[in-house]
Amino acid sequence: MSSNHVVFFDTTLRDGEQSPGCSMTTQEKLTMAHALEDLGVDVIEAGFAMASEGDFAAISTITQAIRKPRIASLARAKTEDIEMAARALQFADRARIHVFLASSDLHLEYKLKMSRQQALDQTGESVRLAKSHCDDVEFSPEDATRSDRDFLVEMVRIAVEAGATTINMPDTVGYSTPEEYGRMFAEVRERIPAIDEKGVILSSHCHDDLGLAVANSLAAIQNGARQVECTINGIGERAGNAALEEIAAALYVRADRYGVSSSIKLDHLYPTSEVLGQIITFKPSPNKAIVGANAFAHESGIHQHGMLANPLCYEIMTPSLVGVSRTHLVLGKHSGRAALRHRLEQLGFSPDREELQQIYYRFVALADRKKNIYDQDLIGLLPDKIRENRNVPVSELD
Ligand code: KIV
Ligand code: ZN
Repeated sequence: MSSNHVVFFDTTLRDGEQSPGCSMTTQEKLTMAHALEDLGVDVIEAGFAMASEGDFAAISTITQAIRKPRIASLARAKTEDIEMAARALQFADRARIHVFLASSDLHLEYKLKMSRQQALDQTGESVRLAKSHCDDVEFSPEDATRSDRDFLVEMVRIAVEAGATTINMPDTVGYSTPEEYGRMFAEVRERIPAIDEKGVILSSHCHDDLGLAVANSLAAIQNGARQVECTINGIGERAGNAALEEIAAALYVRADRYGVSSSIKLDHLYPTSEVLGQIITFKPSPNKAIVGANAFAHESGIHQHGMLANPLCYEIMTPSLVGVSRTHLVLGKHSGRAALRHRLEQLGFSPDREELQQIYYRFVALADRKKNIYDQDLIGLLPDKIRENRNVPVSELD
């Protein structure tokens, strides 16, 4: 794998599932895992084996059905968690144990009631134990972005010496800013030469509490991270995790800035988002980038005119690039004659200039009263003479 390859670590089934209303059955997780495999993700975090029997069963089932991506289980830095993760992963062709332990004083003091020295000792011991079960071990100092930097570096150094192959530095509470998060990666890498010497991969894991999860993930990549942890539709604890589809699209559309490659099949992004939406029974908000219902919809007359002249005027990628079937010119009170004519022509009607003008007046009056204008509404506005001269089948109506 070249050093320009960014590993996509999908945690929809673990961190994503931790968001309210997103819990999934084993069967649903399996359906989602197949979609993630088709999408081309490199690693699927299938659950947290110790958390519940359901999580254990889902991880084990997924390892037996999914062959291409590596399958990971989360584990606290505790013997029983690590052994449970190893058991859940026993049938995997390629497994990963993902061990985490808090590194911030806040978490150590209030949540774990543990001293810094105890945390350092536990880091080494837990990574060594995980390593005795599995070659591929990821270590995450939880709350890395709010941790004392020297202590964080010490903890990461111990994890690397103990054999961790990936070091993930989470912005657990979505507190960091892009330049700060990026700088943390540059500094840790600089202060621990063994990271590059041993080929250890640095990973980002960002939450969206300030709406910066994707920006922070991209900043990490610019500073040497070669794994991003993310979820479909950005689901996850509280405000969610970094959205996979946004990172993948940004890396492609702005390849001039990032210059990295990935295995993500971009045209699977929208279909994968749809699979998740059906499983958890809610869709991303309509204005969500890439996969929201309005991501490729244009209503204003000026935009619609520009789109009809050349889609590049208002779209930085084609809908088909990310698996959306077509651009949607929404007819509403801001639309102009160009879009109205375009839709009428698609429906098989060809009014002349004057007729179009008359239809347009009626259309604007209707659009002022009605939020959604459907094709049937448009047809209702047409004079009989035009309606009778239609040349496409009625089945093409919306
Ligand atoms: O947000 C976080 O810190 C996590 C870790 C367990 C990786 O999800
Ligand atoms: Zn998280």
